[in-house]
Amino acid sequence: MSQNLTIIEHPLVQHKLTLMRREETPASSFRQLLWEISMLMTYEITRDLPLQEVTVNTPVCQTKAPLLSGKKLALVSIMRAGNGLLDGILELIPAARVGFVGLYRDEETLEPVEYYCKVPDQLENRLVIAVDPMLATGNSSVAAISRLKDEGAKEIRLLSLVAAPEGVTCVQKAHPDVRIYTASLDERLNENGYIVPGLGDAGDRMFGTR
Ligand code: URA
Repeated sequence: MSQNLTIIEHPLVQHKLTLMRREETPASSFRQLLWEISMLMTYEITRDLPLQEVTVNTPVCQTKAPLLSGKKLALVSIMRAGNGLLDGILELIPAARVGFVGLYRDEETLEPVEYYCKVPDQLENRLVIAVDPMLATGNSSVAAISRLKDEGAKEIRLLSLVAAPEGVTCVQKAHPDVRIYTASLDERLNENGYIVPGLGDAGDRMFGTR
């Protein structure tokens, strides 16, 4: 289970996630917390990005200082809940290209059905961060990652806020090369495919739908 899985245990992340779990948290606060938490998680998911030394002139002298180098980033939202994680990441990495894979979950089979796909070009030369707040059965994430690989992606990370063990195992089996980042590995899925204890339907909580 721990293979290629990073649980982000930073106290601020954990605190904000607890506020999001509360059923009385309104959609406006939920969105704000998701935005804040996604920035904090970006810190962890980009921890190992390569740097190169460049020469800069400060007002005082010339010096060598590090700048990001290496592959450009592509962020891919697994819609619709992924969109909530996107904004915070873009705030910190404004130059990243953004793609969308639209999948909905058939409520009976729990299988993902694709209804939209638009991704940046040259995915093969980019570090791709796929985002989906809830890694539940894992079926949507596996389908989205497969689609990204079909489009050429070679290096993919998956960012989720809350994961179920079933979802992690599903992604690890289908895509052992993909590193998963999450703020919490919850207990299990219930019979309706919801994460327990989870936070409910992330899309509904974000957008106030039901
Ligand atoms: N999707 C959600 O939004 N919540 C869950 O608990 C499972 C899937």
